Amino acid sequence: MGNWTFVRAVRVACFPTGGGRAFLFSTRLCYTLVAYSDKPGAQHRDGLSSVGRRAPPVLGPLVWRRMMRAVDLIIKKRDGGILSAAEIDYFCQSYTRGDIPDYQAAAWAMAVLLKGMTRQETIDLTLSMAASGETLDLHDVAPVVVDKHSTGGVGDKTTIAVAPLVAACGLPVGKMSGRGLGFSGGTLDKLEAIPGYETVLSIEQFKAQLGQVGVVVAGQSGDLAPADAKLYALRDVTGTVPSLPLIASSIMSKKIAAGADAIVLDVKTGTGAFMKTLDEARALARIMVDIGQGLGRQVSAVISDMNQPLGRAVGNALEVIEAVDTLRGKGPADFCQHCMVVAEQMLVLGDPSLDLASARSLLRDALESGRALDKLMAWISAQGGDITVLGDPPALRRAPLVRSVPAPRSGIVRAIDAMEVGLAAVELGAGRARKGDPIDHSVGVVLHAKVGEEVRAGDPLLTIHASDGDKLAAARRRLLAAYAWSEGDVEPPPLVYEVIC
Ligand code: URA
Repeated sequence: MGNWTFVRAVRVACFPTGGGRAFLFSTRLCYTLVAYSDKPGAQHRDGLSSVGRRAPPVLGPLVWRRMMRAVDLIIKKRDGGILSAAEIDYFCQSYTRGDIPDYQAAAWAMAVLLKGMTRQETIDLTLSMAASGETLDLHDVAPVVVDKHSTGGVGDKTTIAVAPLVAACGLPVGKMSGRGLGFSGGTLDKLEAIPGYETVLSIEQFKAQLGQVGVVVAGQSGDLAPADAKLYALRDVTGTVPSLPLIASSIMSKKIAAGADAIVLDVKTGTGAFMKTLDEARALARIMVDIGQGLGRQVSAVISDMNQPLGRAVGNALEVIEAVDTLRGKGPADFCQHCMVVAEQMLVLGDPSLDLASARSLLRDALESGRALDKLMAWISAQGGDITVLGDPPALRRAPLVRSVPAPRSGIVRAIDAMEVGLAAVELGAGRARKGDPIDHSVGVVLHAKVGEEVRAGDPLLTIHASDGDKLAAARRRLLAAYAWSEGDVEPPPLVYEVIC
């Protein structure tokens, strides 16, 4: 569905008029809210996409803006009020333009974190952030484009395997990715472990590669959803990241602006995820699916486990090697299975004539025939990456110290704290504590035993790749402490809890 009418039965009188516009009269404010009702992405005379709304033509932007004050909206949210679409849009656009200072936006974000947002407020915020910059229409290069997004975890190199796998089945994958922050890794950092890989593409380059190769994975364009870029940076330093409506609108505004028709959300839950409980992950998945579907996109969410790292490798170059090995049919079982689930969802969303079983058989064929691996090589070289380092054996840069750590005891692995493993990788230099910190692509850890597996004392438990002895010793201590042991059998956690669509 492409029609949105931002008129709600709120505490104000509402007088719909023709042409998709409505006038809202509030007791305090008198403003007009443009309620476009046409297809998402359509451009209006003011050059803005109809995914958002703009200052009203009748009273004019100046009058509209003069009648709202940031402080009133902060107070309203602080006191548990519900913000209207126009109020949210005013706040979001004014902050993006620099008309609202950081201290007021920080207070507002904290009020949202503490008081929450309704489903409608969350949708309105998403739309406003998506409309704060350019919105892509990719249909001139591909009839259907699919995207995926992970909420972030440890050892999550899914995009690197899944994007070429899906593209090898004929469905173009266009994705804008992010960098790692804190314990959670980022796809761009992993890809930059490949010498020459270019993450900064213009929108024209992004589209051209999507059309020609069928896979493109680049950094988020600064022209898309600039409101989110600004607000996310502020949230990062004001303790306001872990708010469900702010996370949902942040993720979905970028996905909506990036133009994919179908989006699979990989919502992680567990110790190494933002969403620690299944209920939180479910709530986040539900609102993101609702937002996307409400905007006419095909969206589903896979709720997957992040209580232990995904696969065995954690660290940028090590994860690239594991993803490439997976396309060679030599990846770890849990990671392969996870990739299959995500890829199946991408295929069935992108091609509604497929069911899960036929999607799986297409994927197996792409994998076993080597077409998925060929697609990966075509994609990486199209983005300037040196594919000679992705051979078997690989020749990516190695850390100076590579040490095996033996199991300190015999037993069955009961748990591996994913966040601790992520933090150990950050301490080794694989991640960054602060935005902009440099990272070392060569360092990280490979886990030889995962939950439910039996180990004998002295067997290799981990291999640590480090740049110096002190970091290696610190990581060794932290990683050994992340393991919990059992004498009896242990059932590994499920890989996927549920799929929401
Ligand atoms: N990822 C995002 O893009 N935004 C958030 O708010 C959290 C994770």
